[in-house]
Amino acid sequence: MTERDKVIEAIDIKKYFPVRARERKTSGQSVLKAVDGLSFQIGKSETLGLAGESGCGKTTTAKLLLNLYPLTEGKILCNDTDISVLKGKELKSFRLQAQMVFQDPYESLNPRFKVKSILEEPLEIHRLGDKNERVDKVLEVLEEVGLNPANRYLESYPHELSGGQRQRVAIARALILRPSFLVTDEPVSMLDVSIRAGVLNLLQRMIDERALAGLCISHDLSLLRYLCHRSAIMYLGRIVEIGPTEALIKKRYHPYTVALLEAVPHPNPDYKYRLDNITGEVTSAANLPPGCRFYNRCIKRMKICQEIAPQPIEIENGHWVECHLYNN
Ligand SMILES: Nc1ncnc2c1ncn2[C@@H]1O[C@H](COP(=O)(O)OP(=O)(O)OP(=O)(O)O)[C@@H](O)[C@H]1O
Ligand code: SF4
Ligand SMILES: [Mg+2]
Repeated sequence: MTERDKVIEAIDIKKYFPVRARERKTSGQSVLKAVDGLSFQIGKSETLGLAGESGCGKTTTAKLLLNLYPLTEGKILCNDTDISVLKGKELKSFRLQAQMVFQDPYESLNPRFKVKSILEEPLEIHRLGDKNERVDKVLEVLEEVGLNPANRYLESYPHELSGGQRQRVAIARALILRPSFLVTDEPVSMLDVSIRAGVLNLLQRMIDERALAGLCISHDLSLLRYLCHRSAIMYLGRIVEIGPTEALIKKRYHPYTVALLEAVPHPNPDYKYRLDNITGEVTSAANLPPGCRFYNRCIKRMKICQEIAPQPIEIENGHWVECHLYNN
């Protein structure tokens, strides 16, 4: 990725949440380190996958990138602008550029509105175009997301559509503002298996054709493989391995990546992992050990791991791992 292609950049970002008084008594800690020093970039027409067990900080990372939470520390640049200092008009313009597609399309589609109003609303909020131009844009984006003939869907309510059609409307709503950065959080896990491929295909085409930067949170290995050029594995607020998706899946340097990628996804709609292959509980993010966060579950742990936190090292071109096994 050249500097010109870079759309979004996270520089050592941290998000600490205050811990409730009752929990503070047990852990002795006053903060929960949900995201604890992440650095990465995403370029035009590139999708970065984010995977890891429940609670490792994936959604918090996405919300930081969308400027929905203030950072505790670090910096996020979108097209070279520091998003934390944006106010007024500039903040509004950032909101145009960064959009999100949720796991459950109902979260972004008001059930009392027809498709036409759902898609017109963001244009109205940002005062884009007159009434006729807005309708034209709505028809255009419906066609782009494969809802043809577009006219037929204008007067439909979300509950009158199938799950796949609803997710297509949610994608249309995110795309109608012509963003440069798109976050998707488990975009197909609530959909019937038979229609997932179609929606993934659409996302891939949109990211490619519109030269978007994408961040795709998913528990699904096949989805990461299909949609994401690079993938990052998160554990307790850190990226423990990041690299080109195929290389990461094939090589699996980090002991946690090995365990995670071998895990069987649980067959419920939330699609959480079941890590039968390792023992031990995930340490609390409000009570982190001084050394490696994966220490208590790692089958390869060494003495140094208990005392010193590993730092990321580049093992191959663009493939980084944070583990003492690779320090020499
Ligand atoms: N608003 C908040 N206030 C306090 N703690 C929070 C808040 N949001 C998230 N957390 C905590 O931060 C950690 C990371 O949460 P996050 O939702 O980012 O995880 P996740 O990886 O998205 O999990 P999942 O796969 O279940 O969606 C968790 O320990 C969670 O309990
Ligand atoms: S640093 Fe040590 S404990 Fe942590 S993952 Fe590597 S080998 Fe395991
Ligand atoms: Mg989440």
